[in-house]
Amino acid sequence: MKVLIIGGGGREHAIAWKLKQSPKVTKLWCAPGNGGIADIAECVPFKATDLTAALAFCMENRPDLVVVAPDDPLTLGMVDVLTENGFRAFGPNKNAALIEGSKSFAKELMKKYDIPTARYEVFDDKEKALSYIRENGAPIVIKADGLALGKGVTVAFTVEDAENAVKAAMEEKVFGNAGAKVVIEEYLTGPEVSVLCFTDGNALRLMPSAQDHKRAYDNDEGPNTGGMGAFSPSRNFTKEIEACCLETIFIPTIKAMKKEGRPFKGVLYFGLMLTKDGPKVIEYNARFGDPETQAVLMRMTSDLFEAMNAVIDERLNDIEIAFSDESACCIVMASGGYPLKYETGFPISGINNAEETGAVVFHAGTKQENGVYKTSGGRVLGVTAKGLTSEDAAKKAYQAVEKITFQDMHFRHDIG
Ligand code: AMP
Ligand code: GLY
Repeated sequence: MKVLIIGGGGREHAIAWKLKQSPKVTKLWCAPGNGGIADIAECVPFKATDLTAALAFCMENRPDLVVVAPDDPLTLGMVDVLTENGFRAFGPNKNAALIEGSKSFAKELMKKYDIPTARYEVFDDKEKALSYIRENGAPIVIKADGLALGKGVTVAFTVEDAENAVKAAMEEKVFGNAGAKVVIEEYLTGPEVSVLCFTDGNALRLMPSAQDHKRAYDNDEGPNTGGMGAFSPSRNFTKEIEACCLETIFIPTIKAMKKEGRPFKGVLYFGLMLTKDGPKVIEYNARFGDPETQAVLMRMTSDLFEAMNAVIDERLNDIEIAFSDESACCIVMASGGYPLKYETGFPISGINNAEETGAVVFHAGTKQENGVYKTSGGRVLGVTAKGLTSEDAAKKAYQAVEKITFQDMHFRHDIG
């Protein structure tokens, strides 16, 4: 079977690596891919958001499955376009991807169906938003309504910061149209957990929990990033909490989407905060998380290709989906300066030595030039290892990280 993966980051490398293990997969393409994906798939040079190019590629090459991994092509409706033209595409359609594409939609869904989340108001008028902030005080959380490359959320500890976040979104339009509306919500505290599931619109199969590290520096300091590392499982996500989330969040969300005429098929990601009043939803994503996927798929023992097909055919309850009891840890090696200004184009050495330790090195921002890997993005590699405990997995991942060098590299020392 021939599979096309849309995307080109660490998550897509992990998906490609896992699909490659399926005895049914005989050919892999990835658009646009990256330096590491190029070792296991044929990279095709079109952008993940280019719906026209994706359709043209499919018409010519007839893949048996297309996996649409990133948020933007999903919210643009790539799955709809491919499906309408007779292709099997994995991922939610545009209507269902709105659960990630619009925070106000997600919040209203949760309110309507009594799914626990932070209290909130939605504003499309700047002055009203500002006076709401002055009335409610800080800490308070400001979220751009639409997709903002993971940068649309401000946790403001002063009224001034909150006001500035509203002005940046609504006056300076730093997120373009995505900030025309903002959600302002109650500040919650507690450990955060990411839980991903496969769902075919009716049935739901959980993957093991994970936790990512969003801040750039050790001890959760510094600016927010796309994720500096992840581990699975989360220590905080106990069986009791899982049961509670199934009853109050996971199953109600799948049912709510179906009831709204937006059945969700694909991977649904629940970003949760375990507050003293119980688990609450911080965000939904309409896709695999990055870098959670690198850690979670390392633990998957059943066939990902089968799981994706079962989602498309709505027979998720009929197949085996299994994960090992081991832990996994992914450490992101980033370019110096990331997530702010950074340089790229530096050669990377030691990847083979790192993999000899048993770790898997997933590439994110890399390219290959004459057989040499070079940095090409902010997050460069996701060095991932398994172990019997999370300490063991982290230790092994760091042993592999030690083998790799590139100029100005930066990584956190406390993942896991
Ligand atoms: P997001 O981009 O939605 O993943 O949000 C980024 C981060 O902001 C989350 O991982 C949380 O750490 C934080 N955050 C979002 N909403 C809240 C909230 N209501 N209370 C406290 N922290 C929040
Ligand atoms: N790790 C968070 C995300 O994928 O959005």
